[in-house]
Amino acid sequence: MRIPLIVGNWKMHGLLAEARALAAAVRAGAETLNGREVAVAPPFTALAAVREVLQDSAVALAAQNMHWEERGAFTGEVSPLMLREVGCQFVILGHSERRQYFGETDAMVEQKVRSALAHELVPIVCVGETLKERESGQTLEVVTTQVRRALLALEAAAIRRVVVAYEPVWAIGTGRVATPQQAQEVHRWIRNLLREKAGEVAAEVRILYGGSVKPDNIDDLMKEPDIDGVLVGGASLDAQAFVRIARFSPARERE
Ligand code: PGA
Repeated sequence: MRIPLIVGNWKMHGLLAEARALAAAVRAGAETLNGREVAVAPPFTALAAVREVLQDSAVALAAQNMHWEERGAFTGEVSPLMLREVGCQFVILGHSERRQYFGETDAMVEQKVRSALAHELVPIVCVGETLKERESGQTLEVVTTQVRRALLALEAAAIRRVVVAYEPVWAIGTGRVATPQQAQEVHRWIRNLLREKAGEVAAEVRILYGGSVKPDNIDDLMKEPDIDGVLVGGASLDAQAFVRIARFSPARERE
């Protein structure tokens, strides 16, 4: 069974006071939620402060990126050991903003995924096509390459622990959400790709949708059988909106 997962990606937002206040409001709002997991991904500098606010709550901590090495001469990078120490359970990897602005490649994402798993962090692996790729009919091809390169060297047992996030680049921060049908088509495709490698384990992998998720589109997205949660950017900075998203209805078990 796949427990729906709702993750707030705060991106480069959140000075300490703001981060603490936002985390406290999410904590309060998520307290009574059953049958779903909620996590927030503050910037690195706010992880420790947010961890304190979330102590003993149902809201988990995620990081937005990491290096694959444990330590070394990698100026500006943060390692899996550091993320574990500060209390992260999840780490977002290969977000399109990292790929687009910071030159992350599929090969780097693959190393990061393997390292995250080796350090008992759950990787949230982001894939998705650009507008140009969608318009030229390459969506499934692009996603196939990204998924294959990031994951398919893994054993089935490792694939079970991964979360995949399908985030069409044209829907991120644009207010232009994919229709539930467009998202479902790609989610099902991704699950079938995972099945090729991992057999029935693929039915256990959570596939999140990301890109302009808002309180007014969450319920329709979550009705789709292969959408197992969402990765929320802009709307996760507003506690009320994020909590409403996490309260999506109807709650439904996915098998
Ligand atoms: P958005 O961002 O919700 O602001 O579109 C999603 C993401 O980048 O994860």
